[in-house]
Amino acid sequence: MDSKEETLKIPTHVGLIMDGNGRWANAQGLPRLAGHRAGVENLRGVITAGIKFGIKYLSFYAFSTENWNRPKDEVFGIMDLLSEFIDRETVPLHEEGVRILHIGHLDRLRPSLVDKIEYAVNLTKNNRKITVQLAFNYGGRDEIVSAVRKIISSGARPDEVTEALIGRNLFTAGIPDPDLIIRTSGEMRTSNFLMWQSAYSEWVFPTTYWPDFNEEVFKEMLREYSRRDRRFGGLSSK
Ligand code: FPP
Repeated sequence: MDSKEETLKIPTHVGLIMDGNGRWANAQGLPRLAGHRAGVENLRGVITAGIKFGIKYLSFYAFSTENWNRPKDEVFGIMDLLSEFIDRETVPLHEEGVRILHIGHLDRLRPSLVDKIEYAVNLTKNNRKITVQLAFNYGGRDEIVSAVRKIISSGARPDEVTEALIGRNLFTAGIPDPDLIIRTSGEMRTSNFLMWQSAYSEWVFPTTYWPDFNEEVFKEMLREYSRRDRRFGGLSSK
């Protein structure tokens, strides 16, 4: 089919698990951090592709609560990369109408990085062309534990605890659940990403390593998503 005639179903919210940086680097005889650098450099193009497709929310899994278990050099290297990314990209993204949000815990991050994240979130808070959530020091189980703590501290009675109340106490409060989650590199796991929110997400697992994930592969994933019949536990609409 001519691509101009193609009708794709465009998800409102796409989550991306950016996997395969290490293997990408290894395949070219480079250190792992070079893979992460290439991964960060890929973010801007994927955001631009998301805007072009008309997606309203993109959530990127950049650093999980479990990633602290990696060697110190790699952990601090990823922190430096996020810091450089914010320095370099916040103003251009702002000018493109991107709202940047952070999900995860800011404690444990160095104060200068926390300041940068807060600056990026604050500068872009009124933009609505697309919302980019950066999951950094994020874990789905940890997010649910935090929500339960907040609810208990608020003094809610057991019968007041509903799915909606839990949703309002997650980091993602006010953001629609992801329709589609893409995990690159061929690994087929959810790895604690948006556990609560992904209950009815469609998942796809392209074999492409994250640094090579581009508009073309993204479009192929949207084609796959368009073929899916989402039933949300009900019966087919077809
Ligand atoms: C997965 O590759 C990637 C990570 C665990 C996080 C790395 C972070 C980024 C690409 C981008 C971070 C974004 C910002 C804005 C800092 P892997 O190391 O698990 O690869 P492997 O499975 O091939 O070893």
